[in-house]
Amino acid sequence: MSEATIESILQEKRSFQPPADFAKAAHVPSFEAYQQLCEEAKADPAAFWAKLAEQELDWFQPWDTVLDWQPPAARWFDGGKINISYNCLDRHLTTWRRNKAALIWEGEPGDSRTLTYAQLHREVCQFANVLKQLGVQKGDRVGIYMPMIPEAAIAMLACARIGAPHSVVFGGFSAEALRDRLVDADAKLVVTADGGWRKDAIVPLKDQVDKALANDAVPSVQNVLVVRRTEQKVTMEPGRDHWWHDLQQGASADCPAEPMDSEDMLFVLYTSGSTGKPKGVVHTTAGYNLYTHMTTKWIFDLQDTDVYWCTADVGWITGHSYIVYGPLSNGATTVMYEGAPRPSNPGCFWDVIEKYGVTVFYTAPTAIRAFIKQGEHLPNARNLTSLRLLGTVGEPINPEAWMWYHRVIGGGRCPIVDTWWQTETGGIMITALPGAIATKPGSATLPFPGILADIVNLEGNPVEGSQGGYLVVRHPWPGMMRTVYGDPERFRRTYWEHIAPKDGQYLYFAGDGAHRDDDGYFWVMGRVDDVINVAGHRLGTMEIESALVSHPAVAEAAVVGKPDELKGSDIVAFVTLEGTQTPSEALTKELKQHVVQEIGAIARPGEIRFTDALPKTRSGKIMRRLLRSLASGEEVSGDTSTLEDRGVLDKLREGA
Ligand code: PRX
Repeated sequence: MSEATIESILQEKRSFQPPADFAKAAHVPSFEAYQQLCEEAKADPAAFWAKLAEQELDWFQPWDTVLDWQPPAARWFDGGKINISYNCLDRHLTTWRRNKAALIWEGEPGDSRTLTYAQLHREVCQFANVLKQLGVQKGDRVGIYMPMIPEAAIAMLACARIGAPHSVVFGGFSAEALRDRLVDADAKLVVTADGGWRKDAIVPLKDQVDKALANDAVPSVQNVLVVRRTEQKVTMEPGRDHWWHDLQQGASADCPAEPMDSEDMLFVLYTSGSTGKPKGVVHTTAGYNLYTHMTTKWIFDLQDTDVYWCTADVGWITGHSYIVYGPLSNGATTVMYEGAPRPSNPGCFWDVIEKYGVTVFYTAPTAIRAFIKQGEHLPNARNLTSLRLLGTVGEPINPEAWMWYHRVIGGGRCPIVDTWWQTETGGIMITALPGAIATKPGSATLPFPGILADIVNLEGNPVEGSQGGYLVVRHPWPGMMRTVYGDPERFRRTYWEHIAPKDGQYLYFAGDGAHRDDDGYFWVMGRVDDVINVAGHRLGTMEIESALVSHPAVAEAAVVGKPDELKGSDIVAFVTLEGTQTPSEALTKELKQHVVQEIGAIARPGEIRFTDALPKTRSGKIMRRLLRSLASGEEVSGDTSTLEDRGVLDKLREGA
């Protein structure tokens, strides 16, 4: 982003106060109330979180220590015993919520299902017993590769119930990507479906699982459970594969929740970084339960009458925290939708809102930009007056998209919470609280109470005024990731030593660049590392490069992001070819398809540029900065004196 653009963004004068009637009934009803929470948390973080943990969650045994912080190792609520599945289900059964809708599900073909808390509890208990029958024990990892159907949430909660950490893999990932993740997590069992509906087509999930497991590539996997969803033909391997319904039917519904240690692993979820393979982000039980509970309650201001809908997929952290755990822990009604806007029904989101009377709606900027393109007539044709609060997540939202969302979807009356956070943070970190904090289009506004976010330079010193810098967090919080699965050194290096610790003070490095305006509001600008955010999906440039060079025609590849109106960023790959290979349109197509096969459709490069050589420094490092400028059609500026061969740059320019 150019300096001038940043300057103009920070000059944003439009500001929206929380509507008075909204604020009156909100959990956090004023800016003063917000400030008071922040002060309380700052004065004594342990006491702040402990009070909430006691008030808001049910414990089998109280904790001894609130926080044990030996950077970068944090332990929250040590000595305590708790189960998140109990907090999401059992404790609501003794209240009027027993027969309240917990999960409202809408399938893409139009089928639907509603599960009350009592029904969801029963299904989860039965499935937990199925897992046990198949030999899954506390501590064993379970892979979940599912469409957006209730069984995905049931499987997650069943794992949590018996203390078997789940590893959900987004159903859009390829067999190769699935295999890598199952191997890394050493998964004992995989839960999947015959297929899932996605944009009027069937995604053959079970076939992908078969491919991932072929040739005993994941020896740890002993069983595969298959939900019948799309009814297409699949091969069932005797002894290994079982139909979900066959085992679920006969299973007992009696399965008390296992008392877990606070720091027992709840799940591992893979996400992309700047280097190496995707890393397994580890979250543990009590801290994650508390943090997702509190953020859901205060940010989405959940009331008993709300119908809450987050459009994410459970394969991402947003689905974990804000479709399943956060809302259910609060006893809310959470909507789950299998489909996506598609040519046969571009207005399907508005149908769902009208049909179920959705009151709180949480989606991604990239979706909003696509809706703008489709036109207002689609949302205008539906009754959206049930909505009272809107949210966004996943990438910076451009002010025009924010204004459209506010006016067309929110009817000018709904506050918008722009929520900044990451897989690693477990829950939302910077956001407006809708009854307390005035919003500005494009700003995530202020940190959640208890979160000491800051903007610093590489030396760890706070930046002056509105000057940009690195977004960091100064104090541990309950929902933070605990480690990289199987690689604690990578955890330390990536997040805690990127900015050198000073005087024993460790800063959590988020990998994002940010600015602060005169009101202290945060403006998150995007990644400062080799991670590209494509339509809200996080991808490492190195992963895509590895996929490209695994094709026999490719010698070298360098991948960068370029700004894209709809997707935020798009992927541009600069590729050099092996000896006799020549560039062609057919090869371009083939390489794009190759990346899809290696990673998944979300990683398909928008553009492939063939080149004779890549611009490198004398020490052989690819100068990505130059490639980024070239890809976005900008003037290549800045220092190019370290370039080994200036001719390469000239040629690339000519090619463009
Ligand atoms: O760059 C930030 C961007 O998404 C990254 C985290 O991606 P992931 O772990 O996949 O989690 C996405 C959903 C929580 C961040 O490093 N990001 C997320 N939310 C925002 C954002 N950028 C700007 N504004 C946001 N509200």
